[in-house]
Amino acid sequence: MAYFDVAILGAGASGLMAAIEAAKKGGRVLVVEHAPIAGKKILISGGGKCNVTNRSISYKDYFGQNPEFCKTALQKYRLESVLQLLQKAEIDIEEREQGRLFCRQSAKQLVHFLKESAEDLGVQFVFNAEIEKVEKGGQLFDIETSQGHFSAFQVVVATGGLSYPQAGATDIGHKIAKYFGHRIIPTKPALAGFVLPQNSRLKNLQGISLLVKASIIGKMEAEEPLLFTHNGLSGPAMLQLSCCWEKEDPLQINFLPSEDVLTLLNLPENGKLQVKTVLSRFLPDRLIQAVLPAELLSRKIAELGKKDRNEISRKIHTFEEKPLKTEGFMKAETTKGGVDTLQINPKTMESLLVPRLFFTGEVLDIAGRLGGYNIHWAFASGYLAGRSVISMEIR
Ligand code: FDA
Repeated sequence: MAYFDVAILGAGASGLMAAIEAAKKGGRVLVVEHAPIAGKKILISGGGKCNVTNRSISYKDYFGQNPEFCKTALQKYRLESVLQLLQKAEIDIEEREQGRLFCRQSAKQLVHFLKESAEDLGVQFVFNAEIEKVEKGGQLFDIETSQGHFSAFQVVVATGGLSYPQAGATDIGHKIAKYFGHRIIPTKPALAGFVLPQNSRLKNLQGISLLVKASIIGKMEAEEPLLFTHNGLSGPAMLQLSCCWEKEDPLQINFLPSEDVLTLLNLPENGKLQVKTVLSRFLPDRLIQAVLPAELLSRKIAELGKKDRNEISRKIHTFEEKPLKTEGFMKAETTKGGVDTLQINPKTMESLLVPRLFFTGEVLDIAGRLGGYNIHWAFASGYLAGRSVISMEIR
């Protein structure tokens, strides 16, 4: 059985970063991955350009039972650390709205750089190897895979969460954690769109996209684009809200945050116009027809009473909709829940129950909001674990 000082399980953002840092310490480092290539999620992230981090980043951008767990990792691996990494990889950055930093070139370049950096440091990769089980006998961990057993003194579980199984996600990380006595916080899809009930007024509006202010009252608010899909609602505004959404929570949507509808209706010059004429200056006709009754839309504004005016304003500014469910793990960009961070050392990512066993990235009960926070977390936690493995010289 081949022996390694450190075995990294999973060649995603977190595993690659952990491998690079662990290998700098000089021991034999292995990365086991069931896909034929590294970094599949990085490759598809941000539409192939990977939203790799954000200008503003803090533990408050993360969800979980204990978001403060992220503090140390984010202090040790900062925005500047990602910028340095991109500079070394000769990747230019492109800044988009809300401080989101994307690779200007293809994310392939980033994955290539990470893998090559690891290989240059002597990291061995075994691809197409399904991890089936990890056990500990005496001092060493035994990693059972579809390509045979590997033995390691230290193990970093970087196998990700449950989101996007089509890119390789499995629950093996949670299984390994449970086997070693770790608690798993119940998992949920996050950064996913919503499915609407058949009778929803917002059904059949697919293709429409507009800037909205959407909220789950008392929990979260997002001023971002909303995209109507075949199933219901998506786009950045909805992905953000999905991180806090519980079944039965209504979404409240302001379809026109830049204007006040009551003011528009009260303008004397609009009095002779039909309601739909004024609203269609700002909103797509199909949307207006879906949220307001035809009878009201065809009325002249001067004929409207106070009640009608308030009703129009309410439907445009505080439209309420109760989704059936989220689009689930098949469409979710990340996973809420996972390995309970209360049983992990935030300064090292090492298990508090089993020495020399580490957990990093999405497998942990940490999920970032939309905007580069999840890749940053994967890097930051992988970095900390890689730096925390016991140096081979000390052993
Ligand atoms: P990740 O899932 O990347 O890696 C885990 C690895 O383990 C995978 O390579 C997997 O194949 C492997 N593995 C799993 N089970 C195994 C088994 N049994 N045996 C062997 N190997 C196994 N975030 C962001 O910040 N900016 C963005 O632009 C985007 N965009 C985006 C788009 C889409 C479509 C998705 C699905 C996700 C995003 N994300 C994102 C989220 C981000 O990609 C994600 O949170 C991180 O890549 C997670 O990194 P990890 O290394 O923790 O897991």
